[in-house]
Amino acid sequence: MMKAAYIEQPGPPEQIQYGDLPRPEPGGSQVLVRTTAVALNPVDTYIRTGAGYWDLPQPFIVGCDLAGVVESVGPDATRFSPGDRVWGTNQGLVGRQGTFAEYSAVDECWLYPTPGGVEDATAAACALVGVTAHLGLFREADLQAGETVFVHGGTGGVGSMVLQMAKAAGARVIATAGSDAKAARCRELGADVVINYRTEDEPQAILDSAPGGVDIFWETLREPDFDMIVASMAERGRVILIAGRDARPEFPVGPFYVKGCSLHGFVMFKASPGELRACAEDINRWLADGSLVGQVSQTMPLSEAAAAHRIQEESTLQKSGALSGKIVLIP
Ligand SMILES: NC(=O)c1ccc[n+]([C@@H]2O[C@H](COP(=O)([O-])OP(=O)(O)OC[C@H]3O[C@@H](n4cnc5c(N)ncnc54)[C@H](OP(=O)(O)O)[C@@H]3O)[C@@H](O)[C@H]2O)c1
Repeated sequence: MMKAAYIEQPGPPEQIQYGDLPRPEPGGSQVLVRTTAVALNPVDTYIRTGAGYWDLPQPFIVGCDLAGVVESVGPDATRFSPGDRVWGTNQGLVGRQGTFAEYSAVDECWLYPTPGGVEDATAAACALVGVTAHLGLFREADLQAGETVFVHGGTGGVGSMVLQMAKAAGARVIATAGSDAKAARCRELGADVVINYRTEDEPQAILDSAPGGVDIFWETLREPDFDMIVASMAERGRVILIAGRDARPEFPVGPFYVKGCSLHGFVMFKASPGELRACAEDINRWLADGSLVGQVSQTMPLSEAAAAHRIQEESTLQKSGALSGKIVLIP
């Protein structure tokens, strides 16, 4: 048996039980990972609430991200051996079992080696948000060195990855923050310009810091203001959308196409194993050379998964601002 955080029915955070479930056996090309750190994402809270994007295993272990050590491998697994340190994401999605447990059986196609010297908590904290940032900046927006990237929420889970990866790729970065402390953290992470959206006129501050407009506008908010976004764009700018399934905002068609802009929406869980591995290779390189760090806001024991879900939901959906990055949980 193993300890796990799981639900039998969708519902509020208190629906998450912490208790014993059978330890999985790795079949086929699966690898059994002894989990040492997991990270929480907003999507975990939507799935736990009963978003119903797909059928869930019963019981359903919550969580997408993990880091740990290979315990054993299935008969067809060839990439990893017992004792290897690994991290991964894209679990708990599209009907797969989740990661918030002492052990996870994960197909080896979703696992990557953890670089020496990089903590498991860091690898877990960079997992889903890291591949998301990479897919958006490079596959979708084709970021080039010297371009200007704007991101909403420079200390957020996704935003902190976008900020650092854009800097690693030679871009100039403008980020927002909701407090002076978060603004200072954005600067530590490499932001060239930080706008406190609670005290400054954000649209004006963007235009002041990028008079020719921004090349990439990374929207993390669920209610995009396209009048503001399009007014902020440079010629041939790219807008990245990753949130707001129910949003139905107005859209300034003329200014958008006359500038030759493009709009890129995507979900990370539809990327292929090969696409995610390409992201992971860059993430590992940047983690190893220190140009990417995990933005961990809180570390909690796995037994407090329900409380962690509550904090994440209040911060991301109800905008309490309590978090400055990721919640990492330790089994
Ligand atoms: N499509 C995909 O594949 C994908 C992947 C990952 C995430 N997502 C979605 O992307 C969204 C962000 O995820 P996350 O993990 O980054 O969440 P998060 O860590 O909670 O970050 C949210 C960020 O939004 C910022 N923010 C909130 N209100 C703001 C405002 N009015 N102006 C400027 N910034 C504001 C916050 O900044 P402050 O803290 O400074 O207030 C915070 O940095 C979620 O909806 C998530 O579901 C989608």
